[in-house]
Amino acid sequence: MYNKELQNLLEEVNKCFENINSLKDLEELHTFYMGKNGKITQINQLIKEVPNEEKREFGMKVNEIRTIFNESYENKKNSFLDEELNKKLINEAIDITLPATKISIGAPNILEKLIETVEEVFMSMGYDVVDGPEIEEDKFNFEMLNIPKGHPARDAQDTFYIEGEELLLRSQTSPVQVRTMLEGKGEVPIRMICPGKTYRRDDDDATHSHQFMQIEGLLVDKNISLSDLKGTIDVIVKKLFGESIETRFRPSYYQFTEPSVEVDISCFNCKGEGCNICKNTGWITVAGAGVVHPNVLKMSGYDPEEWSGFAFGFGAERMAMLKYGINDIRAFYNTDLRESRPFDREEVE
Ligand code: DAH
Repeated sequence: MYNKELQNLLEEVNKCFENINSLKDLEELHTFYMGKNGKITQINQLIKEVPNEEKREFGMKVNEIRTIFNESYENKKNSFLDEELNKKLINEAIDITLPATKISIGAPNILEKLIETVEEVFMSMGYDVVDGPEIEEDKFNFEMLNIPKGHPARDAQDTFYIEGEELLLRSQTSPVQVRTMLEGKGEVPIRMICPGKTYRRDDDDATHSHQFMQIEGLLVDKNISLSDLKGTIDVIVKKLFGESIETRFRPSYYQFTEPSVEVDISCFNCKGEGCNICKNTGWITVAGAGVVHPNVLKMSGYDPEEWSGFAFGFGAERMAMLKYGINDIRAFYNTDLRESRPFDREEVE
């Protein structure tokens, strides 16, 4: 009788997995046969009725049924888990045909790049790079540069005044000359450059901007002459525009220098033949400069009998425009990212 029951159970176990379609059903089936009151667990109780000499064989049969069940259970379970994993992988797969997000790589602003080059060259000649305030006092921007109130030279620098007549947005970086000398308290030599923003009430167009940058320079020492200035300017323009570039001084007029000059460089584009960059003259103006006026030295605490100096002011955008072939100054301020891509003449050629 127990043999029959065992036989039936074996047949049942062999078939019972056929209609199982989910992990949940499988776990229920497991409880049904192998749980505490499960069919296979319970069948052991029949052993009491089995004659002694057959008990061993009975035990082996029950074990066999249990092994068959367990093996089928594990196989089924693994196939469900595999299926689930496959589904997950398919859902989470990366679609490599999707277009990727474009990553733009930043680049140094070319105006900054030019200023850094100028700074490096002057630092290598022992100059300090200094800073000054953009909101400036009339005293430093004009008066101590030998431009008293009411002087017509002020008209050329149409200035943004902030409060009355005393506070303004600096119209040039030259006030930093005065500040540096006052701070130097008579110490020599002074060698400084100051790149910085300046402001004028100009209408913006291709060559004018109400905000622009200058690079100021000042040297004060003994026996400084115009030829020291020329030698110094020569170094920087050769560095920026090439070894073959020549420098020329033209007489000019600034209140704070005497004599004053305009600095021209030979045209790097046409090499003097005449082109539209140099307006067919073969020369391009890049700076104002001169020998520091004795009044300026005196007002800032330096005895002009003993000391002398030179000063210069470059237009930073103008130099960058020439160097990088940009024909509109507004390009520096219109936040067009294409303008800040790395390009200079060496790379373009
Ligand atoms: N500050 C002058 C300007 O804005 C430029 C300049 C000329 C600066 C002569 C100087 C200089 O230091 O010596 O037009």
